[in-house]
Amino acid sequence: MRKKVTVVGAGNVGASCAVRLAGTGLADIVVVDILEGIPQGKGLDILQSCPVEGIDVRVTGGNDYAPTANSDIVVFTAGFPRKPGMSRDDLLWANYDIVKSGVEQAVRHSPNAILIVVTNPLDAMCHVAYHTSGFPKHRVIGMAGILDTARFRTFVAQALDVSAADVVAFVLGGHGDTMVPLVRYSSVGGIPLADLMDAETIQQIVKRTREGGAEIVRYLKSGSAYYAPSAAAVEMVDAILRDRKRVLPCSALLEGEYGIQGLFVGVPVKLGAGGIEKIYDAKLTPEELAALHKSAAAVKELVDVIRV
Ligand SMILES: NC(=O)c1ccc[n+]([C@@H]2O[C@H](COP(=O)([O-])OP(=O)(O)OC[C@H]3O[C@@H](n4cnc5c(N)ncnc54)[C@H](O)[C@@H]3O)[C@@H](O)[C@H]2O)c1
Repeated sequence: MRKKVTVVGAGNVGASCAVRLAGTGLADIVVVDILEGIPQGKGLDILQSCPVEGIDVRVTGGNDYAPTANSDIVVFTAGFPRKPGMSRDDLLWANYDIVKSGVEQAVRHSPNAILIVVTNPLDAMCHVAYHTSGFPKHRVIGMAGILDTARFRTFVAQALDVSAADVVAFVLGGHGDTMVPLVRYSSVGGIPLADLMDAETIQQIVKRTREGGAEIVRYLKSGSAYYAPSAAAVEMVDAILRDRKRVLPCSALLEGEYGIQGLFVGVPVKLGAGGIEKIYDAKLTPEELAALHKSAAAVKELVDVIRV
C-alpha cells in the first residue's frame, strides 16, 4: 500500500511541499487548511499535474482531519509567516495556538505518524508540537538546518563558481539570528573551505546565511521564502519514507547532547524510517560550543515564555 503524507497548511510552503511531494510519487497526499476551498482547489490542481508528470498518487485537500487518518508523516506548515522588519520570534503567540490545535487534531487521527514541523519560530514550535502530541522525541523533527545549510552552500558555490552539490556545510543551533554556521566542518569536494577562501569572504557568507530568510522577506514584502523551505522539508520526507539514513541537520530534542537539556536545537541527525535514529554529538571547540549555547539560550527564552 502506498504511504500517506499529510501537509497541514495550504499556503506558500505547504502547497509547494505538496507539489514537490507529488513529484516524488512516494506517497498519497492530503492537504489541510482552515481556509474553505483553498486546500480543495490546490489539491485538485496538483492531482491534475500527475498525468502530465506520469505519476500515480492521490492528492486531496480539505478542512478537516478525518481524511488524514493513519498518515505516515505529517508536515506541519500552518501559521503566519513574517513580514519585513519582523523576526521569526515575533510570530510566537499567533503560531502557538495554530500549532497546538492543529497538532492535537492531526495526531488524534495519525497516532503513529512522524511530525515534521516547519512553522516558525521553528525550535519553539517543535517544543509545542512535542508536548501537544505526546509523541516520543524521535518522531518530532524540525526543518531548518537543511534550509540554512542550503543557503550557505549556495553562497559558497556562487563565490567559488563551483557546483553547490560539491559544497558540504554544517550549520548548528536554533533557526534564528544566532544560528551557528561551522566553517571548520565546511568543505568543497573535500577541500576545507578555509583553504579556498579568505576569512573575510567566509565571514560575509556566514552573515548572509544568518540573514538569508530576512533577505527574501525584504524582497517579497508580503511573505517569506517557500521554494527552498519546501525542498528541504521534502528531503526529510524522502529520507524517512525511503529509510535512507541520511545525515542531515534538523531540530531535535536534546537531552544532554552538547550540554543542552530539554530544548529543540538544530544538530546533525540520522533520518530513516524511525524518524530521528541518532543524534550526532560532534566535538566542538570551546568557541563553537559557546556559540551553540548562545543560540540554545535564545530558543530557551522563547520556550520559557510559552511554558505557561
Ligand atoms: N522552518 C523554516 O525554515 C521555515 C521556512 C519558511 C517558512 N516557515 C514558516 O512556515 C509557516 C508557513 O509559511 P507560509 O509562507 O506557507 O505562510 P502562508 O501564509 O502562505 O500559509 C500559511 C497557511 O496556514 C493556514 N493556517 C492558518 N491557521 C491554520 C490552522 N489552524 N489550521 C490549518 N491551516 C492554518 C493559512 O490559512 C495559510 O494557508 C510560517 O510560520 C513561516 O514562518 C518556516
